[in-house]
Amino acid sequence: MTQPRGQWSGRLGFILAAAGSAIGLGNLWKFPYMAYENQGGAFVLIYIVAVLAVGIPIMMAEILLGRRYQKSPVGAFLRAGADKVGGKLWAGVGFLGVTAGFVILSYYSVVAGWTIHYILMAIAGKLGELARQPELLQNHFVNEFLQNSRLQITYHLVFMALTTAAVYFGVKRGIERVARYLMPILFGILFFLLIYSATTPGFGRAIGFLFQANFAAVDRYGFLEAMGQAFFSLSLGMGAMLTYGSYMNRSGSIPKSTLQISALDTLIGLVACVIMFSIIFSFDMEIQKSSSILFTTLPTVLVQLPGGNWVNGLFYLLIAFAALTSTISLLEVVSSFAIDELKWSRRRATLTMGSSIAVFGILNALSNGASAPLSTFNPLGRSSTAGVFGTLDFLAANWFLPVGGLLIALFVGWFLGRRDAREELEAGHGVMTGFGVWRFLIRFVAPIAVAAIIVSVILGYEYQ
Ligand code: PHE
Repeated sequence: MTQPRGQWSGRLGFILAAAGSAIGLGNLWKFPYMAYENQGGAFVLIYIVAVLAVGIPIMMAEILLGRRYQKSPVGAFLRAGADKVGGKLWAGVGFLGVTAGFVILSYYSVVAGWTIHYILMAIAGKLGELARQPELLQNHFVNEFLQNSRLQITYHLVFMALTTAAVYFGVKRGIERVARYLMPILFGILFFLLIYSATTPGFGRAIGFLFQANFAAVDRYGFLEAMGQAFFSLSLGMGAMLTYGSYMNRSGSIPKSTLQISALDTLIGLVACVIMFSIIFSFDMEIQKSSSILFTTLPTVLVQLPGGNWVNGLFYLLIAFAALTSTISLLEVVSSFAIDELKWSRRRATLTMGSSIAVFGILNALSNGASAPLSTFNPLGRSSTAGVFGTLDFLAANWFLPVGGLLIALFVGWFLGRRDAREELEAGHGVMTGFGVWRFLIRFVAPIAVAAIIVSVILGYEYQ
């Protein structure tokens, strides 16, 4: 029994869903703390160059593959590779993507679940109370909440249930609908916080920190992290954009959509930095662990606004919304594999995959407390020391996604054929003036840049 393939209602639906996938914890949680750790300016500049030279070309490549072959990653590569050198082996790129989606979702949903805890605390009025005394909140987060696996697992399961429900209802009635409601609210809340941060004394310093490049502050891991973050934030290298592209109508423009999605994603990452750094600099906050700024530092400032407890609640609601539209895309990659290749019904695929990932996430949450040996696990240096999540996140963002992206770039640049690529990029767009530039980027710049960074990290690592 084959069901007709789902489709977005139109280009706006696609843009909202894809921007929903891109904008998430990567922008609001990871990007600010990585920019902070790498001392701002130079890192941000490298990140933007990575988006322009590597991210945007690869996003176009993914969407075009999806739309042309009307399948999610495994099926698309099976079809596209069939008459090329390498043949069925190319499906491996799709499998890598499905695996990455599975792994990323399993920890992403746990972190996303933390926001539910904060929202509930706000509703109970407790968040405001804790946030008024920074040590109390710090203590609550690190020593109580993070030690409580049962609570974290409960929220993780709630988050997985919401994700699964959205994917269950399909492309238009589930995924797109959630994005249509949540994305505008998200933009609204962020705008409000941006205006607030512009009134704080640290605003100017935050802008300076972000845009004054000091290259001495960035080493080769800085490059690896900036590039990995570009992949992670734009949802590239694992077929999420490919899958969403497969539901896109041929009358929409791929180049235009790609530019809009990437611009929105980058803008929101920068806005998140401006908001957080303004606050940190205004109040001279001491940062103990930059990866927990979002859960320990920010509330203590937001609480000083009128209605502080509620402002905080709203803030975590924003993060939860952003995370949900991303987890949906991760689950869609894994489920659509089962739908396309194993011929499962959407219902069976989402319930089975959603619950398997939920179980895997429980294992993550359980082992996170007891992860001392793993936290020293160091795939070629400077991995995060944040336990299981940190390790999985480090592997996914810095290795799985860039390697996946490299293979996608090589396939589309060197195997797909110029005519096929051009035809697909121009369908719904008209003559593409930048085609030559895109092709140069996807054939040379993107693969060489990704490979060079990977090689420099491997060669530069000091083996003991
Ligand atoms: N882009 C999402 C974020 O920034 C994470 C993500 C990665 C989603 C890969 C889908 C695929 O949070």
